[in-house]
Amino acid sequence: ALTFDDGPGPSTGTLLDTLAAQNVHATFFVIGRNVQALSGLVKREAAEGHVVGNHTWSHRDLSRLGASEQSGEVSRTAEALKALGVSATVLRPPYGAFNATTRTLGLPLVLWDVDPADWRDRDAATVASRVLTNTRPGSIVLLHDIHPSTVAAVPAIVAGLKAKGYTFVTVPQLVGTMRAGTAYFSRTSHR
Ligand code: NI
Repeated sequence: ALTFDDGPGPSTGTLLDTLAAQNVHATFFVIGRNVQALSGLVKREAAEGHVVGNHTWSHRDLSRLGASEQSGEVSRTAEALKALGVSATVLRPPYGAFNATTRTLGLPLVLWDVDPADWRDRDAATVASRVLTNTRPGSIVLLHDIHPSTVAAVPAIVAGLKAKGYTFVTVPQLVGTMRAGTAYFSRTSHR
């Protein structure tokens, strides 16, 4: 399952073109404060068969916030998405940071088991190589569609994984039944 965080952004449309051309469905964890200005891209994500998830309103570290602040970060984004007709049923906590309070927010938490550090190393070939090397059956791959270098890596990622026999699914398709408050790292790893 390819996942794309922190958007939507200026490169998201290009990514959607690539995914559509390859018939690949992904999961997008959007930042609430980005949603309104680029609402057309969020609607397009949902309309083209991708899953849209909640990545909080302003990308704060939830593990450092109290219960009401955590709830606000998530609910404000949920409302912005709801206004577009999009229901977000999964939450990715920024930085992968969460605590017991985060588990009470009513959504499954989606983490990852493949991280090519694309936010740090803005080189498409490096990012693609790391994904192809580290992906296993059932993996959840962390990527960021706000970086043009990552969007540029996606054709090679898709081609390389298809050549290894992988098929692409959304996170809910990968995991199956997901429970609120459980953190999912791959198809088989959760806690
Ligand atoms: Ni993020």
